[in-house]
Amino acid sequence: MQDLFDINGPEGVWQESLGSGATWIHGFLVAHAAQVLADVGRVVEHAPYRHLTTPGGKRMSVAMSNCGEEGWVSDRAGYRYQATDPQTAKPWPAMPVQLRALAQQAADDSGYDNFAPDVCLINYYAPGARMGLHQDRDENNLTAPIVSFSLGLPAVFIWGGWQRTGKTQRIMLRHGDAVVWGGEDRLRFHGVAPLKDGEHPLTGHARINLTFRQTR
Ligand code: SIN
Ligand code: FE2
Repeated sequence: MQDLFDINGPEGVWQESLGSGATWIHGFLVAHAAQVLADVGRVVEHAPYRHLTTPGGKRMSVAMSNCGEEGWVSDRAGYRYQATDPQTAKPWPAMPVQLRALAQQAADDSGYDNFAPDVCLINYYAPGARMGLHQDRDENNLTAPIVSFSLGLPAVFIWGGWQRTGKTQRIMLRHGDAVVWGGEDRLRFHGVAPLKDGEHPLTGHARINLTFRQTR
């Protein structure tokens, strides 16, 4: 029984390819959502969500926090990973072990074994919040994939090409979806359209996205 379950995956979980190195796992997190949100809640008690400033001086509409050995930050000096939270001057909260294991499972299911994330960036989208088209390229290790988890309100994820001006595809990421991109898709441009208001039983008027990164 257990074997059958492993082969077929849990009910309602299915994969869709977004490229030779990119996989959209619909429903991956649904069964784990309450636990993941509880983990996120504990992290943001210690490292509260905040609106970072871009190097150009603009306030980001997405509020962010991190857990893990380092965290992604942005300010007038640029984008970078750093071991301490600039707001508290303390180390970022540790990455909850179950959260890390789920990210590794998603990577593994997508053909990336040995994924060893050291950073989890937590993005909080209130209605209207968006993320412009960008590449994830601040990591020293570009051979490891990015694993993204979506919770709460649905959002339009913009999945582009290798150049900013490349053709884009718009896909609706829903509560519980995971996206994994690595290999030749690792440097694809991507972004999120302005969040449409709504109400989700677990997150209220918000979407929460986690991205797991292996920076070294
Ligand atoms: C990101 O690119 O860091 C976030 C993607 C998302 O919110 O889906
Ligand atoms: Fe990104």
